Amino acid sequence: MDLPRPTELSGSTEKLIRSRHAVRAFRPDAAVPPETMRAIFSLAGAAPSNSNAQPWRVEVVSGAVRDRLAESLREAHAAQRTSVDFPYEEAMYSPVQQERRAAFGAQLYGTLGIAPADHAARAAYDAESLRFYGAPHVAFLFVSDRDDARLAADAGAYMQTLLLAMTGYGVDSCPQGLLSFYADTVRDELGITGGKLLVGVSFGYADDTAAVNRVTTGRAALEATTTFHG
Ligand SMILES: Cc1cc2nc3c(=O)[nH]c(=O)nc-3n(C[C@H](O)[C@H](O)[C@H](O)COP(=O)(O)O)c2cc1C
Repeated sequence: MDLPRPTELSGSTEKLIRSRHAVRAFRPDAAVPPETMRAIFSLAGAAPSNSNAQPWRVEVVSGAVRDRLAESLREAHAAQRTSVDFPYEEAMYSPVQQERRAAFGAQLYGTLGIAPADHAARAAYDAESLRFYGAPHVAFLFVSDRDDARLAADAGAYMQTLLLAMTGYGVDSCPQGLLSFYADTVRDELGITGGKLLVGVSFGYADDTAAVNRVTTGRAALEATTTFHG
């Protein structure tokens, strides 16, 4: 017998999804308790994947290792020693996507008091973000070495499940694609040989006094991204 399905979203589901947002200033000394950490990453593992292959590998970094890695990232950045596993080019974004990016950038840097033409200040802020926005923890999301873009779908499902698990436990986060530009530095510091780095997720507890954490982002209208057929 079919069970009745809800026709309305439960308030808690909507609240969980909508209350997650990127945090860019953390309280450095407010660590996530180890048992909460294990609960979050166990829950994230419930993410779906193609044939249940679970092709992700997650490296969670805290404490002295986190501090050393932040320093190595700063050095790599200063020496322009970038290394990407997944090539990046601006051209991968369509004009409308470029517009959304520009609007977001204007909002973020505007909140920080950085003028649009002040490229040096923007670059300095981005460099500083390699310190994980002050977060006491960072998780690196790797996929297996196979050069298959399809794995990105599995990793994306994992990442959003992870972010929502964090939100559910009251833990704030910021996915940072920028960290993937220093893949070799991350591997070297963590003593990892295999895997391709997609993204890092800084996490901890937000500094609620920071204006940057009050940046809010809109979304495109449903019709701009989604078509219902049939
Ligand atoms: C794959 C990915 C990479 C991202 N990389 C960065 C980054 O390098 N630096 C940063 O400050 N935010 C980064 N973000 C956060 C986005 O800017 C943010 O999710 C987006 O503006 C929407 O805002 P919201 O997360 O607050 O809803 C990234 C998000 C994703 C999903």
